[in-house]
Amino acid sequence: MVKACAHGDNEAQSIGLKVAVNALNEAALENWTLWLSGATSGLVARLLRCGSRSFSQACFECPALLKRSLQVTPDHIKETMTRLDHIPFMDLAAQRKRLGGVIDAAISKVLNHNQFILGPEVPALEQSLATYCGASQAISCANGTDALVLFLKAQGVGEENAVLCPSFTFAATAEAVALVGATVIFVDVDAHTFNIDVASLELGIETAQKIGMQPVGVISVDLFGQPCDYSPIENVCEKHGLWLLSDAAQSFGASYKGRKVGTIGIATTTSFFPAKPLGCYGDGGAIFTDDPDLPEVLRSLRMHGEGVDKYDNVRIGLNSRLDTIQAAILIEKLKIFDEEIDRRNAVAARYTSALADVAKTPVVPDGCLSVWAQYTLRVKAQERDRLASTLLANGIPTSIYYRKALHQQTAYRHFSIAGNGLPISETIANEVISIPMHAYLEADVQDRIVDAIRATLG
Ligand SMILES: Cc1ncc(COP(=O)(O)O)c(C=O)c1O
Repeated sequence: MVKACAHGDNEAQSIGLKVAVNALNEAALENWTLWLSGATSGLVARLLRCGSRSFSQACFECPALLKRSLQVTPDHIKETMTRLDHIPFMDLAAQRKRLGGVIDAAISKVLNHNQFILGPEVPALEQSLATYCGASQAISCANGTDALVLFLKAQGVGEENAVLCPSFTFAATAEAVALVGATVIFVDVDAHTFNIDVASLELGIETAQKIGMQPVGVISVDLFGQPCDYSPIENVCEKHGLWLLSDAAQSFGASYKGRKVGTIGIATTTSFFPAKPLGCYGDGGAIFTDDPDLPEVLRSLRMHGEGVDKYDNVRIGLNSRLDTIQAAILIEKLKIFDEEIDRRNAVAARYTSALADVAKTPVVPDGCLSVWAQYTLRVKAQERDRLASTLLANGIPTSIYYRKALHQQTAYRHFSIAGNGLPISETIANEVISIPMHAYLEADVQDRIVDAIRATLG
């Protein structure tokens, strides 16, 4: 029999209750009674994590006899509090549990065949990725940043060229342009989708011409997992003779008006960084293209620029291969990816219906499917820090992507910006806050997050 008594002031009750519930959960008993005094029913229901059936078994009494029947040490309390209270921002452990032994088996297979560099899993993954998104070819590489650099090198982008990209993105997008010696022209984003604003893109092209640079291409970014509004971007690129590279580091798996990410632009790059919707257990990346000539050049570039004869390098390249072990992991993760995307969308829909009246919730235009790399709210700038610290005190982590737009960051300040400024990028950098999002976020945990946000902002 498990006996527990939550008794004392509010904090003591709450701690006692958590310890008791933990003990009950660990004991995995079917029939039990929890004796409580004074704790609120909401807290009980949430802590029991088992819905109303078990909740109805709780008995609201506190017999003094049970007072000391649960023996706990301070360490036990601390450990229990941490375990029950801390909500992960993303839950790789839950995914690992869902995948079971297949990952171990896939890694073991590589450990046994010993082909760690470009082993058989690498082309197998490339084939699966291309089939998944409908691109003719997928070329894997070491990470999403290299994917961008490899593409720019394959296109021969260099010092005399300008490339346009949004300012409100992760540094890698512009970093790749700078690494090949080209000039970045930053453009603004749309206030609702956080993706490239087409009017600003037109202004950026004018800016490039004004400073005497030859604009050659646009790198669009599907921020937080949501595809850009591609039709108008494609029209602008066509009008000005620019190529379009889709930086889909955050959006692989998403789609735009029936077109899967990976098939948009002259090429698409992605990242398999562990936190990405399709992540491996280290670094990884890939480039997708339908172009008939790019794959051969990209495969050469990722191997130091090797030619047909491995020791006659025909171009200056990089060492940028995807490890065989990471490919083996991704093959298994790709099998459950669609199911995970559905779950992420269900989590996002629940957040949006529960929070739309207290914060600006993300807008997904009709015809777009997001993979929700992040679920990002916009709140008043003066409320953001208070929200983050209150949530943290409740065991709920948040992240700010991104606190500064790229054109405001030290290393990128010298690059030109479109038109007279990028007001939306600067404003949203002060207002965005991302909350826990992953495919394994359970409804009761999500309710806890929602309640805490509503209590702070409502
Ligand atoms: C928009 C964007 N581009 C490129 C990258 C670079 O990917 P990686 O970290 O795999 O180099 C990231 C990574 O977060 C990203 O978010």
